[in-house]
Formats: sequence, structure tokens, C-alpha cells
Amino acid sequence: MRVLVTGGAGFVGSHVVEALLARGDEVTVADDLSTGDRRNVAAAADLRVVDISDGDAIVRELGDLDLDAIVHAAAEASVVRSVADPARSERVNVGGTANVLELAKRAGASRFVFFSTGGAIYGETAVCAKETDPLRPVSPYGKHKLEGEKLVQLSGLSHAILRPANIYGPRQRGDLEGGVVAIFMQRWRARQELVVFGDGSAERDYVYVEDVARAVVAALERAGNGNWNIGTGVLTSVNAVVNALRQYLGPPPAGVRFAPPRAGELQRACVDPSKAARDGFWRPTVSFVAGIGLLLAEAKLG
Ligand SMILES: NC(=O)c1ccc[n+]([C@@H]2O[C@H](COP(=O)([O-])OP(=O)(O)OC[C@H]3O[C@@H](n4cnc5c(N)ncnc54)[C@H](O)[C@@H]3O)[C@@H](O)[C@H]2O)c1
Repeated sequence: MRVLVTGGAGFVGSHVVEALLARGDEVTVADDLSTGDRRNVAAAADLRVVDISDGDAIVRELGDLDLDAIVHAAAEASVVRSVADPARSERVNVGGTANVLELAKRAGASRFVFFSTGGAIYGETAVCAKETDPLRPVSPYGKHKLEGEKLVQLSGLSHAILRPANIYGPRQRGDLEGGVVAIFMQRWRARQELVVFGDGSAERDYVYVEDVARAVVAALERAGNGNWNIGTGVLTSVNAVVNALRQYLGPPPAGVRFAPPRAGELQRACVDPSKAARDGFWRPTVSFVAGIGLLLAEAKLG
């Protein structure tokens, strides 16, 4: 398959690129390197540096492509930055998605896989959210991802919309909003104290990045339209994250400090992945503790 991966220089996109190359696909990456890094892009992929929110630039840089599929992972992916600059979030997450859909039609792509979000689209979840549950995005990021979903649904293209839980794994940046695993690992390595906001009981559903890349491959291979949660359905508290890291690394060198909870932070966010399993195309394979082990082995920290 000839596949374009937008955001392929980022954390998740770079793993998708590797999974596609491993099965023999011809891969082009479109990324503006705003949070991504060209060193994340496998040498066998063709990297084009382009801002997807600029329609003219897309035609100029990507107009020569004949494609079988697009995986659209490029995004302003930070909730915090989307609150600080909602116009940028809208430009990239809504306008950029419209541009990439337009490109898909011009380039002849017959399958479109869209990275939406599970964590930011359902809001607070008492039990792990199903795809049919009401959508209550709070942040501009969540709202714009939902608008992106609607554009994909209206495009007429054969599509899969993925709603991932909290993704973790190698190459996730600890200096951005990152994700608590990447942030804690970076602070552990730098021998800095770990800061836990609230009492550490806030729970998330953590899914390993290679499981997510497998879901993308599976979504490319199936035909029907739909949206699927990509998570584990297992809740892990922040305190349990610290304990899992402690199992491999020993006690945090500079200790743990509990700080006041941050405004607007969800207590519980979790997705129920059973629809993807029922539809026979994906289920998670890596438990949280095993995933932390894989991550630390890769980072040579364990
Ligand atoms: N990381 C998670 O926990 C998580 C959870 C749910 C959904 N997602 C979604 O997965 C996708 C990948 O997220 P990630 O965690 O790898 O983030 P990331 O920031 O590492 O990756 C995003 C990539 O998009 C690129 N990009 C940003 N704006 C761009 C633009 N205007 N034009 C071209 N490229 C642009 C960045 O340079 C980066 O390489 C995003 O769509 C995100 O919303 C991530």
C-alpha cells in the first residue's frame, strides 16, 4: 500500500510509520516538525515538511502523491495549548483535517484512518465509555477533534475513526503535556522529585503505543466505516503509575510531592475497547506493567 502518515514525525505517528514499513508499505510522512522530530522518522519513509493547515502548501508539497490510504495523526495534540490558543487548535485540528481529506480525494486514497481522542471526547467517565455514550468534550482540543470526526464522516471516504485512550511508550516527550509516564520517567532520570497533582487517585486508561500502531494497521485492512475506542478498559491511578515505575527503578530518587489538583482535570477517563474486539479487528495485548517494562528496556533505564 502507498500510505501517507500525517504527524509521522511525532510520538504515535512514528510508531505507525514503523509498523507500516514492517509490512512492506511505501510510506510518506507529512509533518511540520512543531512537536515532532525528523530523527523519529524511519529512513525508509519519505519525509515532507509541511503545515497541514496551509492548503496551498499541501498542494505544493504533496500534490504529486498517488495514495491508497491516509493515516491522519497530525494534530495540535495538547489540551493545555488548545485552551491557551483555541484558534490554532481549530486551524490545525479542524481546518487541517479538512485539507487532508481534500488531499485524500485528489490522491485517490481509498481508506482514511483518523486519530480522534477517547480521553478528551467523552469527559468524566464513571465506567469506561462506549462509542455510543454521549460525547462531552470540554477543551477546545476535544471539541475540535469531534468536529474533525464529523468532517471525516461527511467526506464520503471509506474511513475508520480511532478514539485512543492515554497512549504511552518510547519517544513520548516528557517536556510537553506528554503524559504522566513520560513526564515521570524524565524526572526520574534527572533525579528530580515527582509532582502528583491531587492525591494520586485520578485514573486513566493507558494503552501501549505499539498496540495503537497495530490498531491502525487493522483499521487500514478492514473495509467498513465506523469509530472504535482503542484502549484497555483498565483503570490505573497516578499512584499506581508511580508504583509500576518503582517496581523496575526502585524508589524515586528525589521523592514524590503532592500538589493541589489542577482545575478542570478529570478524575476518571477510560474507554471500553470491546467494540473493536467484537468487530474482530483489534484488542490490546500489552498490560500496563508489561508496557512499562518494554518502555524502560527501550530507554535502557530499567
Ligand atoms: N498521545 C496520546 O495519549 C493521544 C491520545 C489520544 C489521541 N491522540 C492523537 O494521536 C495523534 C498523535 O499524537 P501524539 O501524542 O503522537 O502527539 P505528537 O505531538 O507527538 O504528534 C503530532 C505530530 O503532528 C505534527 N503536527 C502538529 N501540527 C501540525 C501541522 N499543522 N502540520 C503538520 N504536522 C503537524 C507534530 O509535529 C507531531 O509530529 C494526535 O492526533 C493526537 O490527537 C494522542
